[in-house]
Amino acid sequence: MTAERTSSVSTVAWIAGVCTLLVASIWLLAEPRIKRAETQYFATQIAAVLSDIHFDNRITSDTLELESLHGRVTVYRARENGIPVAAVYDAVTLRGYSGLIRVLVGIDSNGEITGVRVISHRETPGLGDSIEISKSDWITGFDNLSLNSLLPADWQVKKDGGQFDQFTGATITPRAIVNLVHDMLKLHSEKSNLVFNHTANN
Ligand SMILES: Cc1cc2nc3c(=O)[nH]c(=O)nc-3n(C[C@H](O)[C@H](O)[C@H](O)COP(=O)(O)O)c2cc1C
Repeated sequence: MTAERTSSVSTVAWIAGVCTLLVASIWLLAEPRIKRAETQYFATQIAAVLSDIHFDNRITSDTLELESLHGRVTVYRARENGIPVAAVYDAVTLRGYSGLIRVLVGIDSNGEITGVRVISHRETPGLGDSIEISKSDWITGFDNLSLNSLLPADWQVKKDGGQFDQFTGATITPRAIVNLVHDMLKLHSEKSNLVFNHTANN
């Protein structure tokens, strides 16, 4: 290798090293801000599914893990003066059109849904994204429902014989959400003693 060639290789290596250091520093500086924004977003979504519920505990530290048909679910317990008033089920479905859909389902101590929000998804814009509250109010159709409100067969989209609207040209996404919400209600009904009596960890 000529001296000239060796010198240009070391210049490229030096520039690559500086760029890597720059990217790493930018990431290190931005990371706490990203974490803070994620925590804030999550707290807003928890508050949205519990909008009519008064609670005074630090709900994000009062958790329980349960196994479900959709895998592991984190349950956040809301309490007022130590008494459980509601629980939020943080669950994921793989039955959507495109990847994971993460959903929060709030359920009160009477087994009634206090709110549902999709907190992340990759469904197709204009087709499956009407599950987002910012795109349509479809997700509010679950409010106040309980297992006693509908027959088991009604917990489906209309195309499958149930009570819930599908979207024009998009049945897979709403079908996945209806199935998940119904399963969370059933899980809550099976495990409510455990969910509400398990010692608070905050
Ligand atoms: C490019 C493309 C993107 C699509 N995105 C979605 C989607 O996000 N959600 C959805 O339910 N269906 C989506 N569909 C339509 C589904 O493939 C399917 O036809 C529709 O959900 C009806 O389902 P069904 O036959 O089970 O009733 C998409 C189709 C195409 C071609």
